[in-house]
Amino acid sequence: MTKFFNKWTRIIHRWFALPTLILIPLAVFAKFSGTGEHLPPQVEQIQSLLMLLLAISGGYLYLVPYIAKKKRAKRKKPKVTATQG
Ligand code: HEM
Repeated sequence: MTKFFNKWTRIIHRWFALPTLILIPLAVFAKFSGTGEHLPPQVEQIQSLLMLLLAISGGYLYLVPYIAKKKRAKRKKPKVTATQG
């Protein structure tokens, strides 16, 4: 289940990155063009939403290695060493 979730979060993050990669330079150019123009507010809203979704999915992707590490440590049974003196 976790593997499935990791795979799909990565795929979704990758696909949301595509329009964001186009929108970010457009928004920056519009802002700094000096003509006082901005992207239409609807486009800016979409961009904000994409950034939010990327931040959420990216935040999860960031945690994936730590979750896996914890799971591994849990699965490993603690070694019982009998010491008789
Ligand atoms: C707060 C925002 C973001 C966070 C916290 C974040 C975090 C991450 C993390 C942790 C990974 C996985 C790295 C790995 O383990 O290999 C990743 C992959 C990636 N990120 Fe982001 N990211 C963010 C925003 C973005 C944005 C804005 C873009 C592009 C517009 C982007 C594009 C990608 C791509 C293309 C990958 C590779 C996906 C794959 O492996 O198929 N990310 N990101």
